[in-house]
Amino acid sequence: MEERIAALLCKMTLEEKISLLAGVDNWHTRPVKRLGIPAIKVTDGPHGARTADESNPNETLPATCFPTGVALAATWNTDLIKKVGVALGKETRARGCSVLLGPCVNIHRSPLGGRNFESYSEDPCLSSRLAVAIVSGIQSRKVSVCVKHFALNNQEYQRMTISSDVSERAMREIYFPSFAKAVKEAGAWAVMCSYNRVNGVYASANRRLLTDLLKGEWGFEGLVMSDWFAVHSTVPAAKAGLDLEMPGPALYFNETLLEAVKQGQVPVDIIDDKVRRLLRLMFNTGAFEEDIKVAGAVKDFPAHRRLARAAAEEAIVLLKNERNVLPLDRKSVRTIAVIGPQAAVAGIQGGGSAEVRPYYKVSPLAALQKLCGDKVKIIYELGCPSNIYTLPLDPACLISAKGSKKPGLTAAYYGNSDFVGKPALTRVDTDFDFRWTPDAPPVECSGGTDFSVRWQGIFKAPETGLFRFGLAANGWGRLYIDDTLVCGNWGERRGGADFHVTESTGEYAMKSGRSYAIKIEFRKNDFEQFPRRSIRIGCDLPRPDDLLERAAKAAAGADVAIVFTGLTEEYESEGFDRKNMDLPPGQSALIRAVAKANPNTVVVLNNGAPVTMADWIDDVPAVVDALFPGQEGGNAVAAVLFGDVNPSGKLPDTYPRRLEDNPVFINYPGESGKVLYGEGIYVGYRYYDAKKVEPLFPFGHGLSYTGFKYGNLKVSPAKAKVGQKIAVSIDITNTGQTAGKEVVQLYVSDVVCRLARPPRELKAFKKIRLASGATQTVTFTLDDEVFSFYDPALKDWTVEPGDFEILVGSSSRDIRAKKTVSLDA
Ligand code: BGC
Repeated sequence: MEERIAALLCKMTLEEKISLLAGVDNWHTRPVKRLGIPAIKVTDGPHGARTADESNPNETLPATCFPTGVALAATWNTDLIKKVGVALGKETRARGCSVLLGPCVNIHRSPLGGRNFESYSEDPCLSSRLAVAIVSGIQSRKVSVCVKHFALNNQEYQRMTISSDVSERAMREIYFPSFAKAVKEAGAWAVMCSYNRVNGVYASANRRLLTDLLKGEWGFEGLVMSDWFAVHSTVPAAKAGLDLEMPGPALYFNETLLEAVKQGQVPVDIIDDKVRRLLRLMFNTGAFEEDIKVAGAVKDFPAHRRLARAAAEEAIVLLKNERNVLPLDRKSVRTIAVIGPQAAVAGIQGGGSAEVRPYYKVSPLAALQKLCGDKVKIIYELGCPSNIYTLPLDPACLISAKGSKKPGLTAAYYGNSDFVGKPALTRVDTDFDFRWTPDAPPVECSGGTDFSVRWQGIFKAPETGLFRFGLAANGWGRLYIDDTLVCGNWGERRGGADFHVTESTGEYAMKSGRSYAIKIEFRKNDFEQFPRRSIRIGCDLPRPDDLLERAAKAAAGADVAIVFTGLTEEYESEGFDRKNMDLPPGQSALIRAVAKANPNTVVVLNNGAPVTMADWIDDVPAVVDALFPGQEGGNAVAAVLFGDVNPSGKLPDTYPRRLEDNPVFINYPGESGKVLYGEGIYVGYRYYDAKKVEPLFPFGHGLSYTGFKYGNLKVSPAKAKVGQKIAVSIDITNTGQTAGKEVVQLYVSDVVCRLARPPRELKAFKKIRLASGATQTVTFTLDDEVFSFYDPALKDWTVEPGDFEILVGSSSRDIRAKKTVSLDA
């Protein structure tokens, strides 16, 4: 390969080399046709191949939506995650792409981080093992990963500019390991640098990160790609080690770079190195041998549905189960009250660039109805709405033109910003959530980036009352009912934000069965040059005032009440952090009201990061955490509730009692453009343990419908020399009536050390399956790495001789066996 790369390099002009160093559009690199170097296409991940349609970049192709990063982490099952990786690789390839932009391996620092759902955990060991598994799975299909976001991108607040100010030791021990392992152990072919600054320097121009550490110390031979619009300079970024600017057309790696090279500001060697790295990725992914195109119809593989289901089942964490309220007994349960805002919707993922368009998705209500058939009566109540934005405009309420039966609105697309002349296209639209990519207007308005759209038709009111309409636009939008302006942002300097555009709302009184003329207009914004353009229209139907009473009544009349609560992409998303850790307004009160009406109340949570539970947790006997479980989430939850699946997920994060308890509380989100990582290495459970703060649910916690006994821990030799391998074994027995899976967790505690160390740190884990009554011996081999810490004075990892405790347990706070090993110099 290197020879072929060298041969190609020799033939390239400087102009051709530089043309390769930036995208040509949002998703493609530029080809060099003269030399047969193809363009390659990249696609977003991390939990599904979110690929733009080749013929219409504003459309996303459907793909399997696997459980999100945090849910995959809750499985603690590296074999399963590797299989998910293989499936992701296969789908990426089938969509004509060579690179999947993932996994996201940033550490969960604050519970409020908007993208926590995309990445794995607060713990570097768990994150690293999963990163290695998924990278090797994806790359086994000749698809490159792009491990992101390097580095210290742990919050969304001011994500494009904030400086993460962090100590060397915390970087080495907490934030780097998942990247280092993905690169060194799994051989990742690409890494994406982050938006933020690290100790003052933008990641995209951070020589220390990209050249000294990644390419130098870790020996990374792959490609460093920028995050989208994360580049801020030409010469500094080029010299720091950034290889590919994305997206294109380039803002920095263009003629300016060419000129800088000609002026001697950037040596040609540096350019050659970048080109080599891109070509290497192309060779690794077979770009020269194969014609990587969309493989016919993009398929919904049944095997991937099953895998998404299996992964969702293993991700579900049973947090609490008093009186063995769960699993539900098919023989005795006759009526179930299914309540809550997350029951009838499928809360499968958070928001932002990771959002996959699944082929289908299953809500818990639909799954329970299917599972129970007519044997169990299900009563559904919303309980409380939890949407921040108005709900999507229902096409069933819309008629596209007088006399027509077609649902939807008639759209007229103009090839200019002012609705002038004949529309370039008229058609009927039914879905009013449009996102046009930066440089692509609706394809129909070809001929420039200017366009405007007008939708018209009839709104037929399904009820009597006050309807709340909403409009959120990157651009200008307005909505009229019967010629009255109801809501909009026409002419306002609003709506420039990334994924989070403020919604303008307005109410209109309507009568059931009556028809009203509706008109919506959209055009580009004249003030801001932000490239994204979008419009979303919603409408909340009149809501009864007695939702809570109805929910309590339904619960009182049922054998069991299940309350489905949690967060949505309106709360957890790329582009912004959560404001607090609370459930959306009304949900806690709903849980309390239902629990009061029925002692057999089960709460099911839908979330990517911890939520406050202190105000209701003692009122309910059982809590199931479904996280953001992907398209099969509903089915998986139903199977766990009825015991068809024995839950085996374990929390990849500590769930604090109060937001104020979390380690970053006084430093988050930072000020004056900086966020100080003042907790140092005390991230997640390392802090709660050191400070003796009782969490609500500890890291690694998760119950089962069966029990496991831990016994016969052996550590050998008990006295060893630094560098010698230590063998650990422990017997695990399933003491209950059902088969189940257990995650055996091994923590190490350094008894005396000249530097401060956390009371215990996860160093290894294994997930096993045991039949009722069965015993298995689980073994681990420990090397130097598990005993070492990073000493900033030595600028190296070191093991200090002395005593170390080996702690084995079922969670970070449920240690079942321990032994000491003494290490000699
Ligand atoms: C995100 C990346 C993503 C990229 C392309 C950025 O906004 O931070 O994670 O891969 O967009 O969609």
